[in-house]
Amino acid sequence: MSPQSEDSRRQGSPLAPDWLSVPADLNALEPKMWAQDAARNDAGELTVGGIPVSELQRQYGTPLYVMSENDFRARARAFSDAFNNAFADICGGVDVYYAGKSFLCTAVVRWVEEEGLRLDTASGGELAVAAKAGIPGADVALHGNNKSDLEIHRALDMKLGRIVVDSLGELVRVGDIAERRGEKAKVMLRLTPGVHAHTHEFIATAHEDQKFGLSMAADTTEHAGLSAAEEAVAAASAHPGIDLLGLHCHIGSQIFEPDGFALAAQKLLRFLAAMQEKYSIVLPELDLGGGYGIAYTPVDTPRPAAEIAEAMAAVVRSTCAELGIDSPRISIEPGRAIVGSTTFTLYEVGTLKTVRVDATASNNGDADNNVTHPRRYVSVDGGMSDNARPVLYDADYSAILASRTSDAGPQLSRVVGKHCESGDIVVRDVYLPEDVAAGDLLAVPGTGAYCWALSSNYNYLARPGVVAVRDGSARLIVRGETEEDLLNRDMGV
Ligand code: LLP
Repeated sequence: MSPQSEDSRRQGSPLAPDWLSVPADLNALEPKMWAQDAARNDAGELTVGGIPVSELQRQYGTPLYVMSENDFRARARAFSDAFNNAFADICGGVDVYYAGKSFLCTAVVRWVEEEGLRLDTASGGELAVAAKAGIPGADVALHGNNKSDLEIHRALDMKLGRIVVDSLGELVRVGDIAERRGEKAKVMLRLTPGVHAHTHEFIATAHEDQKFGLSMAADTTEHAGLSAAEEAVAAASAHPGIDLLGLHCHIGSQIFEPDGFALAAQKLLRFLAAMQEKYSIVLPELDLGGGYGIAYTPVDTPRPAAEIAEAMAAVVRSTCAELGIDSPRISIEPGRAIVGSTTFTLYEVGTLKTVRVDATASNNGDADNNVTHPRRYVSVDGGMSDNARPVLYDADYSAILASRTSDAGPQLSRVVGKHCESGDIVVRDVYLPEDVAAGDLLAVPGTGAYCWALSSNYNYLARPGVVAVRDGSARLIVRGETEEDLLNRDMGV
């Protein structure tokens, strides 16, 4: 740590978490957290693709999700190029399925397709978006631990490239439905390799205790010694309604280190080789899922796609050599890493209030030394309805004053929403200029993934629209809800 930042850290509030330093420049945009075409203009205002946020507010209002289409496309290409290069000599390249659950609308499906990626969906509703956008079914995958018969029929109607089957019961259901239709469903089996990934580290322990996937642990079926995974491979290859393509795993989300992905790849390759040896079943595909992390705050350290791809490729290469098998075709399913940093949420500041808090007894003011410190609450015009992640996952975010720069000193602030919940926090801890005032605009970066997708109408707030900026021009790709939208399912009876 440089002497300067050590010094600034000392000036920080005792209420701040350990990881949060006072930024050297409160007006600066930390590049890893922003779209590549986000910048401040000469007037000091945040812009994307050259368009100032005040202009976006004037045209579309706030709150607003502001997405850089250029950045989305660049990140999609970067992921695809990195993995294709790393795996070129192993299996001819990698199929990249964008995980639509992170953010999905028809425009994004088209960008994905135009950039040469495929689409991963997780429900009939996501399939409907894919169908409306016109992407060929062959480029679409369907996930889900509890697919309905209707969803399975829809997948078959759309001639999906793969249905990722999650359980033995579902395998039989998919096979039987396809057989009755006189078809064969293209199936991948989702296995749980026992790699439990956390954000910064992975723990190589059997993660059996969750709802997804077929266990690879022995004796997880009624047949002695057989794992659910093995039983599924045998059952799938014997079923006339199933064309078994291969295996799938997804070890978690917001993961920085490549080790967990590599370990999962190794486990699945060993299993694949064992199936080949025991049943002479050759499985041509291996999908290693998504989960690649992004920077939400300055201390997050995502790895470049190329670094992760190289690390995974090295393990696939050596494991296949060790097992004496040809590598299956590899696919991956990044969501957050493609869309997360493309977007910021633009809010207008309203109410401000400062409380004094004892650093040791934070909430109740029950100070043991009578020393208290200020924490400023900055209320914005959205909240947990447009970003549920802080409430759901204790997720940390960052924020900047977007409508102008300021020379004022840093003040520890908590950005909160307008909902009737004290837990309605958008950014738990951030240093903002002391002179932030009502009417200023704040921008929270990194809100492209799982924010709009998880948004709600709590307190009858209208969900914000999504604006996409491409080459200096902005357009709504999802309009914001109106009061009429809010009322139009109310039957009034
Ligand atoms: N593939 C499968 C099978 C998945 O379940 C997921 C995410 C992905 C791919 C994409 O993962 P990503 O690359 O986006 O990390 N709502 C949570 C994240 C839930 C992830 C669900 N599955 C959050 O906001 O952090």
